[in-house]
Amino acid sequence: MRIGILTGGGDCPGLNAVIRAVVRKGTMHYGDSVVGFLEGWRGVVENHTMPLDMESIAGIIHRGGTILRTSRTNPKKMPDGLEKVRQAFAAQKLEALIAIGGDDTLGVAKWLFDEGLPVVGVPKTIDNDLSGTDLCFGFDTAVGIATEAIDRLHSTAEAHNRVMVVEVMGREAGWIALYAGVAGGADVVLIPEKAYDIDEVCELLKRRHSRGKYFSIVVVAEGAKPKNVTASVSQGEKLDAFGHARLGGIGNQLADQIEQRTGYETRAVILGHIQRGGTPTAFDRMLGTRYGVQAIDMAHRGEFGRMAALHGQKLTSVPLAQALGSNRKVDDALYEMASVFFG
Ligand code: F6P
Repeated sequence: MRIGILTGGGDCPGLNAVIRAVVRKGTMHYGDSVVGFLEGWRGVVENHTMPLDMESIAGIIHRGGTILRTSRTNPKKMPDGLEKVRQAFAAQKLEALIAIGGDDTLGVAKWLFDEGLPVVGVPKTIDNDLSGTDLCFGFDTAVGIATEAIDRLHSTAEAHNRVMVVEVMGREAGWIALYAGVAGGADVVLIPEKAYDIDEVCELLKRRHSRGKYFSIVVVAEGAKPKNVTASVSQGEKLDAFGHARLGGIGNQLADQIEQRTGYETRAVILGHIQRGGTPTAFDRMLGTRYGVQAIDMAHRGEFGRMAALHGQKLTSVPLAQALGSNRKVDDALYEMASVFFG
């Protein structure tokens, strides 16, 4: 078969493991010829490619980023987007396209499938909030990095009698905040799913300090919002091609409010893209590899319009539509469990 592959949206540790697995099983097992589209959907509309063979995937499993690079290009927004994609399919003689991405990239994949093109999806987001699958590769790495940062911030917070507010990624869901917060022993964790009350946050910190503690760690997901506020804190009005604002800044806002209300000296740290960069964990390399093998097998079984998915310990597939529409949120029970450790 002639197979195309692309990586779209924000990068994610483990992308190279997926690419490697697709190419390895495709070329060695099925005798496929694989072409990589560069920079997400931009590479498809511009037919900008690189050949992918055993040579090009050598030594990439431990590398972060993606050898295909990525972008947030949206062909649906282009008047001739569909035509250009069809031209690339014809020019490359594609029999299947494997699109690795989050809800934006997979939304385009579904649109193309509905237009009759043979597309397979692979779920990707460090936020771990894609529906239809239990776990995305990259999440484990991001949680590990955020947890290490929280560990490090403990000692400086303690040395200075400070509250440290750590802002982590998580636009719609607080998976990274919750996992890293609990694993790192944070004293308060704020997530997009649960609107917070600043007075309650301050009460929790005061309760802790009244037990003789003189420092605290607050972990906040970038998408968290106080009660009665609808929009997350963002950096400017500019939206990307999928209509998303660039989030960030809730940590600083929260730090100011905590300091004002409690009198405790408070600092904010925004972890940002450090959570996405660098070496994937062994777990994410393995998960990415499993997703890659599943995706190429799906292409050969003709399972188009579907996304590779992890259910429990098993790789399976779901219709792309199942991954789209709504994000997979942290449930009440898990947040309640985490709150045992607050304050
Ligand atoms: O989609 C995952 C994510 O990590 C979000 O949590 C975050 O808002 C976004 O990517 C930021 O990505 P970028 O700065 O690359 O647009």
